[in-house]
Amino acid sequence: MSNIKIAPSILSADFSKLGEEVIAIDKAGADYVHIDVMDGIFVPNLTFGAPVIKAIRNKTDLVFDVHLMIDRPERYIEDFANAGADIIVVHAESTIHLHRVIQQIKATGKKAGVSLNPATPVDVLKYIIDDLDMVLVMSVNPGFGGQKFIESAVQKIKDVRALSKTVDIQVDGGITDKTIGRCIEAGANVFVAGSYVFSGDYKERIESLKRG
Ligand code: DX5
Ligand code: ZN
Repeated sequence: MSNIKIAPSILSADFSKLGEEVIAIDKAGADYVHIDVMDGIFVPNLTFGAPVIKAIRNKTDLVFDVHLMIDRPERYIEDFANAGADIIVVHAESTIHLHRVIQQIKATGKKAGVSLNPATPVDVLKYIIDDLDMVLVMSVNPGFGGQKFIESAVQKIKDVRALSKTVDIQVDGGITDKTIGRCIEAGANVFVAGSYVFSGDYKERIESLKRG
């Protein structure tokens, strides 16, 4: 249980006081800050970019886990690294040159992750798995918080775990105290939670997730 990490998604935070929100989740026991970057093209929603990440970087020492839901992320990797990202996650579907982007992330000294949309098979990871620090299994279609957990993600987590015993497996979308247990059993160890954490007492919500 202690090796489970909770990554509250600030997509569900109050944007008018983002700095305070980051400090609050740090105090509440979060392990990572999950930062959802959306470009309105790869996903049908817009959020924020590197300048906003830079603005909150000095609020906490927590790991900044940056989930890029943007088309051709290779255009912005250095910007996000310089803004203070610790882990940079790109979508397999967002670039033609996935291997190259992973090397680009690693060249900045940051950790590299790849995210898979619900319909994307795990096979795309076969030849790059050893280069990855984290695999992000999307358990909703990316773009919005507060959606329902897609059950097929559980089998996908098992399939990723079969590819690698050591890679971090993150799950994102619809994670609550009701859905986290079967993801842990399947082999995931990093859990994004947006609406669940931010719609209650942050500390209680994070603790209830950590209880599995
Ligand atoms: C969805 C984002 C998620 C989102 C999760 O596109 O990647 O990180 O914030 O929100 P919940 O936990 O509410 O499903
Ligand atoms: Zn996310």
